[in-house]
Amino acid sequence: MLKIVVCVSGGGTNLQAIIDRISDGTIKNTRIVGVISNNKNAYALERAKQNEIPNRCISPKEYATRDEFNEALLQGVKDYRPDLVVLAGFLVNIPAAMIQEYRGRIINIHPSLIPSFCGVGYYGLKVHEAALKKGVKVTGATVHYVDEGIDTGAIIFQKAVNVEPGDTPEILQKRVMEQAEWIILPQAIHKIAMEKE
Ligand code: GAR
Repeated sequence: MLKIVVCVSGGGTNLQAIIDRISDGTIKNTRIVGVISNNKNAYALERAKQNEIPNRCISPKEYATRDEFNEALLQGVKDYRPDLVVLAGFLVNIPAAMIQEYRGRIINIHPSLIPSFCGVGYYGLKVHEAALKKGVKVTGATVHYVDEGIDTGAIIFQKAVNVEPGDTPEILQKRVMEQAEWIILPQAIHKIAMEKE
């Protein structure tokens, strides 16, 4: 059984996709042992509660320094004893100590085809704004391992999504989620669960 912790910051639609794919058997041999949010108002926490998944908020606002927050975050993850940490819309720079502790065991979903529109400053809607501004006709999503860089780790899966005339960042974001993110993130978790067997 692959035990995963899912880290979230916002709406948690990727968390929901993981929950749904575990419950319909698409993701096998996997259990979500905890959900951690850096934002106490994240709807993702509500989704965890509704599904009776242990959850907690670890907010930088509750700590005097970034180092203290980073320590609390690492401890919070360790407390759940996961095999894999899944960043599902977790908009926090992962502390170096966490990468060392969980090297090769942290994955992230990013809403573009890396290496386009990734790195510092590219997160959430900003990614889709940049893609539209550039005028690309194809975008997509990437699941990758997390290393010390931002969006630089080894790629696990990518899926392309067409940009359509008249797209707004919001419309494009929704299409990328529906046609790519909610598919390849569960697929990556399933793949890792099968490799652990
Ligand atoms: C998703 O689009 C995810 O790819 C993105 O944040 C959104 C979270 O949505 N992540 C990043 O931009 C990471 N750099 P969700 O809370 O509904 O899953």
